[in-house]
Amino acid sequence: MEMREELKRRTKAVEAVVDSYLPQEDGHQKTIFEAMNYSVRAGGKRLRPMLMQETYRLFGGSGREIEPFMAAIEMIHTSSLIHDDLPCMDNDELRRGLPTTWVKFGYDMAVLAGDALLIYAIETAAKAFRMGAQAERIGRAIGILAEKTGIYGMIGGQVVDVELTNRTIPQEKLDFIYRLKTGALLEASMMIGALLGGADEPQLGIVEQMASAIGLAFQIQDDILDVTSTPQMLGKPVLSDEKNHKTTYVTLVGIEQAKADVEEISARAIDLLHQLPGENPFLEGLIQMLVTREK
Ligand code: IPE
Ligand code: IPE
Ligand code: MG
Ligand code: MG
Ligand code: MG
Repeated sequence: MEMREELKRRTKAVEAVVDSYLPQEDGHQKTIFEAMNYSVRAGGKRLRPMLMQETYRLFGGSGREIEPFMAAIEMIHTSSLIHDDLPCMDNDELRRGLPTTWVKFGYDMAVLAGDALLIYAIETAAKAFRMGAQAERIGRAIGILAEKTGIYGMIGGQVVDVELTNRTIPQEKLDFIYRLKTGALLEASMMIGALLGGADEPQLGIVEQMASAIGLAFQIQDDILDVTSTPQMLGKPVLSDEKNHKTTYVTLVGIEQAKADVEEISARAIDLLHQLPGENPFLEGLIQMLVTREK
């Protein structure tokens, strides 16, 4: 399989799904629709909905009830980026190659757009009830989505990340932050794909571990790119972590060790993938590509 071409093709297909769930831009509250759509449509790799769909396929899923969840996870992820960029957090002005939501729409509207996407994601995911007969699994998937987003997931991780800005953190605490702020949404993505695809409990546990490893490797690579890349390539500022006096994997273990860790942790994820039934060469290729990703 030519991974690059295939990735392009599948990213487009994922994008079309996400797009189809975005709100119409009319009514008195039009500004919020515009801010939501601006931020989601700005682009991005669409990694989370893609991992969700590919995990769904790995378990033999072939219905459409996965689609509202794909849109929902991208909305939640985008809401986390809108808030992460705010002046009170990372104070960044470029995201996905465009001015950040707060720069474009103002601080007030950016806070509301983040809130709006977060709850519209749940409204969107609930549309799956009308599409599939598996009401129990859909209900559980919404629970996973909320848990991995909230205080035991992404938001919990962002809290510790923000609180410990300006401090040196031991690696164990940094691992905790990464597992939550980045890992949790990847866990939700792949677990929901697995669950709706028909995975049983032990398989769901393996998927969770695999996604957690992917998340950790992904965030370490994000830290590496923050020092080695360019804004043109990344579509977001570089040296944001240094500006904010953040402890990162790179400041803690150095760039070479960080790169080696990304490789090792990704290999662990592939091992876990091999413990699951079914085959999805594209998914395996995608996980491998993340090790060498440049954006
Ligand atoms: C950025 O996520 C935030 C992190 C968790 C590192 P992505 O790198 O997936 O951002 P987009 O969606 O491609 O813009
Ligand atoms: C962000 O970590 C994780 C979330 C947004 C939840 P970063 O602050 O490193 O993400 P970027 O580098 O701004 O995308
Ligand atoms: Mg941040
Ligand atoms: Mg940031
Ligand atoms: Mg970063």
